[in-house]
Amino acid sequence: MALETVLPQASPHIRHGSNIGQPLTRRDGVLKVTGRARYAADNHPKGMLYAVLAVSGVARGRVKSLDVEAAKGHRGVVEVMTPANRPRLARDPDEKSNPFMFRLDVLQNDRVRYANQPIAVVIAETLEAATEAAALLRPQYEVQPARVGLDGNKSFVPPGVGIGSPPEIRKGDIGAGLRKATKLIDSTYETAAQYHNAMEPHAIVASWDGESLSIDTPSQGLIMARGRIAGLFGVSPEKIHIRSPFLGGGFGSKGLISGPQILGILAAKLVGRPVKLVLRRDQMYGPVGHRPSTRQRLRIGVAGDGALTALDHYAKTTSSTFDDFFEPAANISHTLYASPAIATSHEGVRIDIGTPMFMRAPGEATGSIALECAIDEAALACGMDPLDFRLRNYAEVEPISGKPFSSKALRECYAQGAERFGWARRPLAPRQMRDEAGLLVGWGLGTATFPALMFHAEARAVIRSDGTGLVESGAHDMGQGAWTALAQIAADGLALDLDAVAFRAGSSDLPDAGIAGGSGHTATAGMAIHRAGADAIARLADLATGDRRSPLYGAGNAGLIAQSGRLYRRDDESRSESYADILARAGLHEIEGRGASASDPAAQSTYAMHAHGAVFAEVKIDPDLGQIRATRLVGAFAAGRVINPRLVRSQYYGGMIWGVSFALSEHAIVDKRSGRVMNADLGEYHIPVNADIVSVEALLVHEDDPYVNALGIKGVGEIGVTGAAGAVANAVWHATGVRVRRFPIKLEDLLAQGR
Ligand code: MOS
Repeated sequence: MALETVLPQASPHIRHGSNIGQPLTRRDGVLKVTGRARYAADNHPKGMLYAVLAVSGVARGRVKSLDVEAAKGHRGVVEVMTPANRPRLARDPDEKSNPFMFRLDVLQNDRVRYANQPIAVVIAETLEAATEAAALLRPQYEVQPARVGLDGNKSFVPPGVGIGSPPEIRKGDIGAGLRKATKLIDSTYETAAQYHNAMEPHAIVASWDGESLSIDTPSQGLIMARGRIAGLFGVSPEKIHIRSPFLGGGFGSKGLISGPQILGILAAKLVGRPVKLVLRRDQMYGPVGHRPSTRQRLRIGVAGDGALTALDHYAKTTSSTFDDFFEPAANISHTLYASPAIATSHEGVRIDIGTPMFMRAPGEATGSIALECAIDEAALACGMDPLDFRLRNYAEVEPISGKPFSSKALRECYAQGAERFGWARRPLAPRQMRDEAGLLVGWGLGTATFPALMFHAEARAVIRSDGTGLVESGAHDMGQGAWTALAQIAADGLALDLDAVAFRAGSSDLPDAGIAGGSGHTATAGMAIHRAGADAIARLADLATGDRRSPLYGAGNAGLIAQSGRLYRRDDESRSESYADILARAGLHEIEGRGASASDPAAQSTYAMHAHGAVFAEVKIDPDLGQIRATRLVGAFAAGRVINPRLVRSQYYGGMIWGVSFALSEHAIVDKRSGRVMNADLGEYHIPVNADIVSVEALLVHEDDPYVNALGIKGVGEIGVTGAAGAVANAVWHATGVRVRRFPIKLEDLLAQGR
């Protein structure tokens, strides 16, 4: 690993295990369940006004008129912001100078590019007044027909997919592979658009004080958000302070600052008072991202011995008319199954919809359900058990790059998951199992995978003269437990008890912790924190070993061990000194260490880095009504070192439940005439509730990966979504013998084909 911090003398050894690895409950849990955790919208600075968005009811056209006078005449209304009076921005919100810069709709003109696009902001003394006045605007539109769906416009090959990945990758000769095959699968799958629907909607409280800007808003990437705001408003980043201590979920939609958040800042600027703007649930179906719908064709060739000869994965995906996020759905086929020929390709379709963006396992989730179903179909064509077929074909090295990776861990996931689930008792043929109530029972399997990513982060660690510690990192807790897991790393990094370490995160004035995304936050922020702690201890060790009055004097070459607030000589543990004593003798109040982390290019070029897993699912289906329930899920995951098994399991549960949702529930239904999402609320946009999840289990498969980073951490936030949806879909087939290739699977799909 590239270590930015040069340690003086022999580096002190920190004894791990006292905090890392403990199944602690969330440190912020009590605050949250007692309502004392202050989310962005809970802030009410003095003089604050309420802003409410008016959004477009059409998907394409122009706003011809707004009855601003009527809205302004409403009691309590202070101002109505439209393109006519919106404060000037220093930069064009339609500018895109890097793939992380998404184009924003912030009232720059009267054009409408999607339904629910903001078209005005009403600012009033109360939320009620602003809401009522927004309804008085009665927009008149010049309407053009909306283009919706995967066939709504001509398709094209985008310049890149995801963040800068090539749209097409080929290895070997697909044609030759398909010709050589004795069995061929050629299946097309469709996945529905999904919306993030975090419990906490996007919200912002913004206050200007001259050039200084104070913001409360949920963010998965504080420093990037600050930079974007600074650019748009032409102020220096140091003048902007964003607080984001708690997020009520993000799932990717809070990774980048969104248009409505910028509108909140603009509104505050316009009226010269603090302003709060909170999206209504239905307003989240448009301007803050979604997972786009896909159509994926998989062609798989299999030779007589059950080995793949070709794997061709094509994905078509929708994007907006004005920006360039294309779901990299086919790329999952780069990493799971070995084949002499692999091709992945993508096409995009521009339709009148808000720009899609990262949504938990963006690309991996959509691609996984199609790939795992196609692999199941291939196994069936060969008359093989789906697990045996996967064991025959899983990749020993990463198929596209040829680099070694942790395939042994995947094998272990298959084995442990199958054992726990009881897979060996599964009959090969479908429609063979019934429960005591006569429901059809089916068992399915899906392989899970997600890259182990790391980004750049920084951290600061302080040891104070009273023997306590302070660790600072601008990290983000979306609810996943970062406050807790990172504090565990922080305490071990300083070799202190958790209670002796104050951990600060969630604020833009702290060291840049990168983005809480790509399942890379624990590794990224964690490694910076770990190094900051090591740096602080090294500086402390320097003080002691160079001081004749210390029992550690001269121990520099032998090395020291740090444990529970003391340094010990490695060669003679009877000689030790407390942190407090070392600082006191040196006359210091505190000593500070700094740490940084980034992915290691040398390791990256040698190894492919992924977490792995296997998800086993049981469904029960009413043979007459087609009603489907996912009754049992067992996932086995290997994702490197587990910082906190309770939190890691909770990530896997959430991911697997999303898999059930993907396969059986989630579906944003777009009205073909208006281009509006018709089920833009949590009543009609279905996700599983507790009653839908009968039994879910996550096995933590031990894995030591010495290459990903010094702590051996991989990500756990997204992998759970992969594999699970395919497992459920495959279980539906196994229960009924009906192969449904359009997701979510609906009971009518089973009734139409299954009788
Ligand atoms: Mo995630 S979609 O990287 O927040």
